[in-house]
Amino acid sequence: MTSDILSGKKIILGVTGCIAAYKACYIVRELVKRGAEVKVAMTQSAVEFITPLTLATLSKNDIIVNTFPNQKEGRGLNTWHIDVALWADLFIIAPATVNTIAKIAHGFADNALTTLISARRAPMIVSPAADACMYESGINLENILKLKKLGVYILDAEIGELASGLEGMGRLPEIEKIMDAAEIVLSGHLRDFEGKKILVSAGPTFEDIDPVRFIGNRSSGKMGYEIAKAAYLRGADVTLISGPSSENVYQEINKISVRSADEMKNEVNTQLEKNDLLIMAAAVADYRPKQFVKQKIKKEENFNKIELEKTDDILSGIKTKGKNIVGFALESNDELANAKKKIESKNLDMIVLNSLNDASSGFEFDTNKVTIIKRDGSQKNIPLMSKFQVANQILSEIIKL
Ligand code: CTP
Repeated sequence: MTSDILSGKKIILGVTGCIAAYKACYIVRELVKRGAEVKVAMTQSAVEFITPLTLATLSKNDIIVNTFPNQKEGRGLNTWHIDVALWADLFIIAPATVNTIAKIAHGFADNALTTLISARRAPMIVSPAADACMYESGINLENILKLKKLGVYILDAEIGELASGLEGMGRLPEIEKIMDAAEIVLSGHLRDFEGKKILVSAGPTFEDIDPVRFIGNRSSGKMGYEIAKAAYLRGADVTLISGPSSENVYQEINKISVRSADEMKNEVNTQLEKNDLLIMAAAVADYRPKQFVKQKIKKEENFNKIELEKTDDILSGIKTKGKNIVGFALESNDELANAKKKIESKNLDMIVLNSLNDASSGFEFDTNKVTIIKRDGSQKNIPLMSKFQVANQILSEIIKL
């Protein structure tokens, strides 16, 4: 069993008044599912969009709306705001309206939620949502910037269709991304990759035999995608070069889709110029058919032999100097020795070793167990955990390079 970082954590969810308030139900449900204890504080405007009863039922806790609770509410002492604020390991304000953002940025404490925030010691994620006209207003952007400077973790809104029917920036991110951000903040990573440009490769490559058949491998791409997501949430500017994969990635990540080892090589070489660091998580084919048959091979042809040739090794061919290069190694025997050889032969700063002998890790799983080996020979064993957590461990070693 792997442990969820959110398990056992005490979280205050602040809900403010905009149409995205209905998504607070899903946030609460997911936090509770992951083992967190959740107390919800709502503004009066939020109550116009969603009932406290709904959130009380989902969170299994009373909802905080009034600054001055009546006797029946059971908050008791008149220092409830201090007690509840100090109880929390994390504050998540989602959705956060321009109004509440302005209040927090200027230290107002004029309702139960902002009063709680003013007494907070725990880290805070603010996830703004508004129509694009409001979101992109100069004063809102300035307030958001101010909060960033004060160490608040801003989970930027996404571009998409808005309640007004307009397309633009202002959508509350998907629940999964809010959970990922919560994991990042609770692990204390915050924005340690700010200003870094990171190139990640992921997924398998497909080497075509004819227009319908190909040689592929069982890589899902998940490990590389999780690295890309974690790096973005830690502040990096991320480009992801992906072979065929059904994984999804955040819209802020510049994703380039490729199919073959050759296409991946060309993209890696072009993109690396613009990036500080390469994490090569892709399972690149070592062989491809020598010839591509342009028309579908028919059964009657009694086709029984595919001649293969080696693909180029992308890592070994990298010419760009002064960049940190991280590779992966998938081994079934003599794992450590083989991985160490690859550090030398591919001229890497670090390699992440995946053993095919470890249960619940590798291609088909959401979890992984790896060993991180650096060029100086030092190594770190990462026990079985979610691929997102493994991604964060890998990034934490990379930042030390
Ligand atoms: N790799 C690469 N180009 C290739 C094959 C692999 O750049 N044509 C990279 C992978 O992305 C990974 C590392 O090299 O980061 C090691 O890949 P792996 O499959 O473990 O090793 P190979 O070099 O293919 O050697 P072998 O299959 O013999 O273990």
